[in-house]
Amino acid sequence: MGQDMAVFRGGVAVITGAGSGIGEGLARLAAQQGMRVVLADVALDRAEQVAEEVRAGGAEALAVHTDVAEPEALDRLAAVTHETFGDVTLLVNNAGIETLGYVWELPAALWEKTLNVNIHGAIHGVRAFAPRMLEAGKRAWIANTSSIGGLGIMPIQTSYVLSKHAILSFSECLYLEMQVKKAPIHVSAILPGPVATRIFEDSKTGEDPVNARHREIMRNMLKSDGITGFEAAERILPQIAEGRFWVSTHPETTREFANNRARHLSELSAPSLPPEVLAGLGVG
Ligand SMILES: NC(=O)c1ccc[n+]([C@@H]2O[C@H](COP(=O)([O-])OP(=O)(O)OC[C@H]3O[C@@H](n4cnc5c(N)ncnc54)[C@H](O)[C@@H]3O)[C@@H](O)[C@H]2O)c1
Repeated sequence: MGQDMAVFRGGVAVITGAGSGIGEGLARLAAQQGMRVVLADVALDRAEQVAEEVRAGGAEALAVHTDVAEPEALDRLAAVTHETFGDVTLLVNNAGIETLGYVWELPAALWEKTLNVNIHGAIHGVRAFAPRMLEAGKRAWIANTSSIGGLGIMPIQTSYVLSKHAILSFSECLYLEMQVKKAPIHVSAILPGPVATRIFEDSKTGEDPVNARHREIMRNMLKSDGITGFEAAERILPQIAEGRFWVSTHPETTREFANNRARHLSELSAPSLPPEVLAGLGVG
């Protein structure tokens, strides 16, 4: 597997949300592949802890406090990365949060936060980093973390799901923009399946009891079925290195979700969910 990622050796990786879960796994693996890594996270203590361990392993690492919901924070991240390590080889816009609640139930501020982190975080990551990457003219990679949920639908997780759909179309259009520019920059969309991370521990919910119940189901599902953040990284990073657009941790599930979505759209059928999922939501 290491062989596949040889293109990254000696390069610079910037990972947002690198203080936990998938981002942490990606940062650790990128360092093991001989990259210098920038770990950006709103939780600086966790990012710093991972950076210290990465440095103890012999790699160069820099933790940077970054709230991806703030466009200026991503400008600062790009500037400090460039000053410290030079040209960026790999940018992963990975930071994301879960929010559960009916559309009408979530306060406006929670809607704003969810969309700012999950959608605008990736947009402004690209806006802040791409100009220097394009100017450098070197082969480089940008990957945006969506989800298999980006190919599905789920009530109660509406704000999250729509943000992950947005990341897919954002990444698809960005891929084409790099082609229009004839830029040597690969673009990937990462669609993780279940990964056992802290995402549901940190999630915010609306007041209705259905939210807490749904969060519990999701949290238990990640605990029982989820791979580790590092295992996810081991599946993700070689696919990015290969220049694949669709990057998956659970290829069969991704294909199943894609097929269901394609069928639903081609038939223009009304939205529906499998009975067992509806039962979990207390429907039927
Ligand atoms: N865990 C899964 O099963 C799963 C499945 C599909 C997609 N994803 C996606 O993977 C990505 C990583 O999630 P994870 O599961 O590793 O979660 P996680 O909660 O373990 O890690 C996310 C990290 O992002 C950081 N973060 C949160 N808000 C931030 C902000 N405003 N600015 C900077 N950093 C911020 C958190 O502090 C945390 O360290 C997310 O985009 C998530 O939507 C996860």
